[in-house]
Amino acid sequence: MRLDKFVSDAMGITRKDSKNLIKKGLVEVNGEIIKDAGFNANETDELVVEGKRAEYKKFIYLMMNKPQGYISATDDHRQKTVLDLLPENFSRYDLFPAGRLDIDTEGFLLLTNDGQTAHNLLSPSKKVGKEYFARLEKPLSENDIATIEEGVDIGGYVTKPAKIVQESDRECVITIVEGKFHQVKKMFEAVGNKVVYLKRISFASLPLDPSLSLGEYRHLTEDEVKIIGGSY
Ligand code: URA
Repeated sequence: MRLDKFVSDAMGITRKDSKNLIKKGLVEVNGEIIKDAGFNANETDELVVEGKRAEYKKFIYLMMNKPQGYISATDDHRQKTVLDLLPENFSRYDLFPAGRLDIDTEGFLLLTNDGQTAHNLLSPSKKVGKEYFARLEKPLSENDIATIEEGVDIGGYVTKPAKIVQESDRECVITIVEGKFHQVKKMFEAVGNKVVYLKRISFASLPLDPSLSLGEYRHLTEDEVKIIGGSY
């Protein structure tokens, strides 16, 4: 790979900025200053930029606290998408949301460019857990909880067993291992109730970072990337 691409991917900077650093002699590959932006570098080469070690990142994984009013898509003519919440310099990474949250759902959305890992996380056979905090229109009875936990018909499909922890008469945390369209809302509709607020609070065993305000995001740590089966 060209050195300017290597530096820009590792540092999260533009190609232009990376070329400038290289020209100024601020980039070392395996201990040697390289001033040629077209130098053929390898992902495993030791890269030092402005005296600091930089790691090449093959993939990007962002944890976003999605706010309401944004759709989980990469492009739309009418609505704002979750990618509109990222700065311009992310556009060259071809990020996409791994899964979907409704426009009025908040919470943990994973944005990545690692297609294989996203595919694995979304594959029904992998039974990846998703936890949602739900506020309901009407009180939730013991009976409703048992019915939903067992599996309910959401229109031609019976949901797999789910887990509900009640937090108050109209609030609960529900854990599901599937991702059908409007699934949580439909599950509560199936027992005559209605979700009035929904937030995903964990995905694939990773809790939503409580320090992220709505609309904020951060890179997953190396340990978190390992947990979701990705690779940096
Ligand atoms: N279930 C829903 O109904 N909506 C979401 O956004 C996610 C899960």
